[in-house]
Amino acid sequence: MFPTPIWITNFKNYESTTGENALIMARIHDKVAKETGKSIGIVVNIVDLGRVAREVSIPVFAQHTDAIDYGKFNGYILPQAVQKAGAVGTLLNHSERRLEWEELKGCASCAQKATLTRIICAENPEEVEKLAGLSPDFLAFEPPELIGSTGASVANSKPQSITDSIKVSGGIPLLVGAGINSVSDVEVSLKLGAQGFLVATAITKSPNPERDLRNFVSAM
Ligand code: G3P
Repeated sequence: MFPTPIWITNFKNYESTTGENALIMARIHDKVAKETGKSIGIVVNIVDLGRVAREVSIPVFAQHTDAIDYGKFNGYILPQAVQKAGAVGTLLNHSERRLEWEELKGCASCAQKATLTRIICAENPEEVEKLAGLSPDFLAFEPPELIGSTGASVANSKPQSITDSIKVSGGIPLLVGAGINSVSDVEVSLKLGAQGFLVATAITKSPNPERDLRNFVSAM
């Protein structure tokens, strides 16, 4: 388990965070983590994950892993392969990669077998409560309508839903995401009890990701 609060940047599949740019962005995160002592992780696409993980010492997560074990599964993402490539965990059920309940259960259980830390995403407090039943290592609350927003954020427009999510999370550390783009978002969320952040736009589209990352994590 990682120290909390933790800042996790989800690279998604932006041009600024794939290929060579994935390495550059990963090195920035590694550098800021080393220099500030803050807990920082990254979520990287499956193609770039191996070489990124070899280059940095911060935790690297896959954007998804499948409900499979070793075997005849062409085209699937094997959790054990992700772990051998150097990742420490996987992100499951993100709004942009939703899973049906049975499949999610399978993905969570296969990831656990491969000793991957599991972050499971929920879109509302009701889902947080349901998904806590799968005992992931982290829950991530992200209202889908706020993902990618550069104004409204989960912290400034839905603070009550953060409180509600924490109440029903069964003690599982809760990350928050969707529109997080200011130091105030970080401060408010921590005050409400969030244990970390799952962020994309504020870093991946920043003209100066290192400066902004330092700024955000300084509030943790
Ligand atoms: O996984 C993080 C993400 O969905 C939040 O995205 O762009 O609103 O920071 P963003």
